[in-house]
Amino acid sequence: MRQQCLLATLLAVLIAVIPGGVAHSRDTYMKTDASMYPHAPSLLQWEKSGADFTPPETCADCHPEKFEEWTGSMHALAFKDPVYQGELNHAVKEAGHEIARQCEGCHTPAAVVKGEIKGAGLEGLSDMALAGVSCDVCHSVKGHTHWQTPYHQPENGSLILSPGKDGPEGPELTKYGPNTPDEYCGDDFHQCVESPLHRSSELCASCHQVSNHETHTPLEETYREWKNGPYATANIHCQDCHMVETQTFKRSADALQKPDREEYHHYFNGANFLLYYLTELAARRAGDEELAENVHNKYTMAVERLQAAAALEITPVYRQEKLAEIKVRVKNIRAGHNLPTSLTNIRQMWLEVTATDSQGNIIMTTGSVDTQGTLPKDIRLFNSHTQDKNLEFTLNPWEAESFSKNDTIPPKGYKDVHYGLSLDRGTSVTIEAKLRYRQADQKLAEKLLGMVPGDIHLEAVYGIKEIPALPIIDMVSKTVVIHKK
Ligand code: HEC
Ligand code: HEC
Ligand code: HEC
Ligand code: HEC
Ligand code: HEC
Repeated sequence: MRQQCLLATLLAVLIAVIPGGVAHSRDTYMKTDASMYPHAPSLLQWEKSGADFTPPETCADCHPEKFEEWTGSMHALAFKDPVYQGELNHAVKEAGHEIARQCEGCHTPAAVVKGEIKGAGLEGLSDMALAGVSCDVCHSVKGHTHWQTPYHQPENGSLILSPGKDGPEGPELTKYGPNTPDEYCGDDFHQCVESPLHRSSELCASCHQVSNHETHTPLEETYREWKNGPYATANIHCQDCHMVETQTFKRSADALQKPDREEYHHYFNGANFLLYYLTELAARRAGDEELAENVHNKYTMAVERLQAAAALEITPVYRQEKLAEIKVRVKNIRAGHNLPTSLTNIRQMWLEVTATDSQGNIIMTTGSVDTQGTLPKDIRLFNSHTQDKNLEFTLNPWEAESFSKNDTIPPKGYKDVHYGLSLDRGTSVTIEAKLRYRQADQKLAEKLLGMVPGDIHLEAVYGIKEIPALPIIDMVSKTVVIHKK
């Protein structure tokens, strides 16, 4: 009896100390402290004063180059992005209006703290709200609460925004930047404060770590993947690959050498070539050749970045003197985090492999998309699967609580794929392997773009009557000839 009692107490204690342990009910999840995080489920904080946020067009007067680089970047598009707007619309319909604050806390933070959020759609919003992740979001970041969050790691916008303060003669703007300011810094428009945070990945962390809004379990973990990897140890931060030209990024990754001060630019270029492609279509339709040219360059950069990220190795495996298998090794050589990263349950990266014998007959082929844009079921996707509280597959971030699979490739790491292959005729076989990437499954993209709110007219803005076949990028390809032995 006594023993049973002890056991029960022990069990109860155990369950209490394992966060999110097996026996949890939804009431026992870590709660967000509402007094600390008034904009929950976003973890943004705002030091309110008479000093308001400033839209990017004003910063452009004195920082024209930065403005041009940022224009058309994923940060500038973060709120207007039709794929995002489609998903936001879906989220609000399924999970209720509250969820919008979580999303917008990263996709347009100033609008959240100012209470401008009305759900999906662009109508009636200020320039600052439409500008997404704009100049005055990042340069008003005074600090962060990364380690005070419910999960004790950066998540869901755990930043402190402070555009300025009330001074004796009215509001004074303060901008945080990477350098030690001289006396002319800010030209009477703003004061300057040196901020080591702006030279570090910690600035990017709270937005590039997405967690479930209730359970706080991480769903997108770019920062943590970086933090646990070799680049963090070598002092190579997000800025050193994403705020520089392609050549400089390759040097940061290969030589682990930090760029010089004058090499930084506000491109924030990643992998999302699809959105630049759509934005270029829209700009050409609107007759804005300057923007079209600008995003075309960003499209090229994104493709170049994807094509620099990975390498392939093909090795034959012989058993009893006979060719039995080929092994394809996919190496993440230049992504500072896992490859792919972030929305890993949606992005698609896979191998297409073809084996041709010496007479030119195709003896094996795998990984080709069909005419509907669908991938075969039996291939290895380097992606993740997210599941809800009943351990059922879901793609919806408001339902997803854990991973049932995560097959992404860590920084400077690799994954192997084996293909059974025997050679009956001829003496050699040619193996061609290609690593391919697209933003999403064709059907899923059609679904998301089909859900954009009524005030974004895909046909009028982008000239899209039906969703075109999503472009696929060949990241790297390799051909080798293998002998029978
Ligand atoms: C913690 C910050 C954060 C939160 C919260 C957040 N996002 Fe995002 N979201 C991001 C980042 C960063 C990316 C870009 C990742 C990438 O490109 O791989 C992104 C990308 C996306 C994309 C892909 C866009 C594209 O063009 O491919 C969609 C869709 C999206 N978010 C929807 C949402 C919705 C809906 C919510 C709320 C339920 C939400 N996000 C909440 C940070 C956040
Ligand atoms: C996503 C966050 C982010 C956004 C958005 C952003 N910046 Fe920056 N900015 C940074 C970071 C990080 C640095 C530091 C990079 C480095 O180490 O030089 C920086 C540096 C700067 C500097 C100092 C650069 C130098 O040459 O020494 C200026 C000025 C600046 N930004 C202005 C702007 C303007 C103007 C905009 C909008 C058009 C903008 N920023 C948008 C993050 C941002
Ligand atoms: C009236 C001109 C003027 C306007 C408008 C202006 N700035 Fe500046 N800013 C300057 C000058 C001058 C400097 C110092 C030289 C430089 O870095 O370009 C500076 C420097 C900076 C720095 C760099 C600090 C560092 O570490 O080197 C940041 C960040 C910055 N500004 C952000 C902004 C943002 C964000 C806006 C819009 C909200 C803005 N500025 C609007 C004139 C201006
Ligand atoms: C306030 C939140 C926020 C901050 C801070 C932030 N980002 Fe982002 N970032 C986003 C969002 C949201 C997106 C995705 C927009 C979309 O897909 O619609 C994004 C997109 C990106 C992309 C493009 C991804 C792609 O698929 O092409 C890169 C690269 C990036 N961010 C790098 C950075 C770096 C580097 C920093 C720090 C210097 C940073 N971000 C800081 C919110 C943020
Ligand atoms: C050593 C260089 C390097 C560093 C450091 C680095 N990245 Fe990347 N990043 C890449 C490359 C290469 C890609 C393209 C391949 C891919 O998608 O992973 C990429 C892609 C991305 C994407 C788009 C992912 C997608 O598939 O949609 C985001 C978002 C991103 N990085 C954010 C970050 C953030 C945030 C940090 C810092 C925590 C960071 N990166 C650090 C090289 C780097």
